[in-house]
Amino acid sequence: KIKKDKMTILVLGLNNSGKSTIINHFKKSNDQNAIMVPTVGFMIEQFYSMGVNIKAIDMSGATRYRNLWEHQFKNCQGIIYVIDSSDRMRFVVIKDELDLVLQHPDLSRSVPILFYGNKSDLEDSLSSVKIAAALSLENIKEKPWHICSSNAISGEGLGEGVQWLVQQIR
Ligand code: GTP
Repeated sequence: KIKKDKMTILVLGLNNSGKSTIINHFKKSNDQNAIMVPTVGFMIEQFYSMGVNIKAIDMSGATRYRNLWEHQFKNCQGIIYVIDSSDRMRFVVIKDELDLVLQHPDLSRSVPILFYGNKSDLEDSLSSVKIAAALSLENIKEKPWHICSSNAISGEGLGEGVQWLVQQIR
């Protein structure tokens, strides 16, 4: 395998799932600039992790911006899909949005997907196993995927996840 030292990872998920908090955690150790692109609803962040430069595109999860996600699909090597594991009311929405991503023609290649079951610190959060069942992740056959629970505030679980993703890509 050719070693890649740069990769573009899309960070997707509904609003309030914790995408910006996760990216912020990775950025803490280095002093990269954030380029704000508020008009079009996403932010490009650069950080260094596991020996690679990661360009993360933090897509807004707000309903009115979700249709912007697909424009980034062609150019990414990996996806981080962030789920608020306590947001039981919206699991149907999470599943619908995920299915649109999985079925998109621009993502028909074998792009690895890392799921963060985020906010694992909250009392009513679902375990990774329950989230995987609720979203029928076992039906994803054509893309490597992995789920781990995370707490973006303490950073717990984040490293394990990104390690898996980087290993898939390089
Ligand atoms: P949009 O930009 O609207 O799509 O939201 P986002 O997915 O970027 O969420 P953001 O990172 O702004 O986090 C939303 C809220 O959840 C903030 O108040 C965070 O502090 C909080 N939050 C994020 N991660 C965690 C977590 O692991 N545990 C807890 N308890 N709160 C979290």
